[in-house]
Amino acid sequence: MLLNKIEIQDFAIKVYDQWVNKWFVLTCGDYNEGEYNSMIVAWGSFGVMWKKPFVQVVVRPTRYTFEFMESYDTFTLCGFASNYRKAMQILGTRSGRDGDKIAASGLTPIASQFVAAPAYKEAKLIIECKKIYSDSLNPANFNDPDIEKCYPAQDYHKVYFGEILAVFK
Ligand SMILES: Cc1cc2nc3c(=O)[nH]c(=O)nc-3n(C[C@H](O)[C@H](O)[C@H](O)COP(=O)(O)O)c2cc1C
Repeated sequence: MLLNKIEIQDFAIKVYDQWVNKWFVLTCGDYNEGEYNSMIVAWGSFGVMWKKPFVQVVVRPTRYTFEFMESYDTFTLCGFASNYRKAMQILGTRSGRDGDKIAASGLTPIASQFVAAPAYKEAKLIIECKKIYSDSLNPANFNDPDIEKCYPAQDYHKVYFGEILAVFK
């Protein structure tokens, strides 16, 4: 899919629908090194912090992608049309630790324009990001008891803020 770079001011999506129903593919690592991994994320946010547009994702330390998020400076978020749902499900249910799930998904990693982390040729939305802040959630700060129910294994997410360097749509 041939995408155009759009200005951040023109970046408009149905935020809740995109995260909860359509999901994103989060990819972290380095395309040129051939070292990267992808997973599905459905929790996160967009906004402005420290005068910068950001996307915020949460990754449990049990994910293979977590190792990449800790080691590399950039990541991408890719949105896909509904006909790629099966491919997305593969990325969101298998671990890159156990085999080449990206090949199994049939999706095609491509070099990004501004970051080392790859994106996907089939994506209809690509957001290139540079990590600017991260921290692990502290359960002592949960103000709603429902939150703890999301962590039966106490594998509390780590939160990553990525400055949005470019959006392609
Ligand atoms: C719809 C959906 C949403 C998900 N959202 C998240 C998320 O926001 N954070 C997270 O850590 N895992 C999330 N996951 C789970 C990971 O995508 C999944 O465990 C994946 O297989 C991890 O792959 P990896 O071990 O190769 O990193 C989600 C899975 C699905 C199917």
